[in-house]
Amino acid sequence: MAEWIKACLIDDIDDEDVIRFDDAGKTYALYRKDDAFFATAGLCTHEKVHLADGLVMDYTIECPKHNGRFDYRTGAAKGAPVCVNLQTYKVKVEGDDLFIEIE
Ligand code: FES
Repeated sequence: MAEWIKACLIDDIDDEDVIRFDDAGKTYALYRKDDAFFATAGLCTHEKVHLADGLVMDYTIECPKHNGRFDYRTGAAKGAPVCVNLQTYKVKVEGDDLFIEIE
């Protein structure tokens, strides 16, 4: 069953940046751009490296290990070496808090 969990304060994420969020043994990556927020799985689908250690460019997250890239809005892998899409999660803002919807 899906549930909303509080992930962070919106001001914990700088514009055009990504942070890591861990909950119940899973890790997530949270993104902010122009006051819009997004959430994906936290680990690269190539070799399970934390994407929050990577580089954000526009709507792309670049993995720090082999520079694989994903569109963090859709989770779409954007070419070798990554070929498996990232899972994405719905987000909502309530007051100063950012929530993500998890299974
Ligand atoms: S571990 Fe992410 S591209 Fe290889």
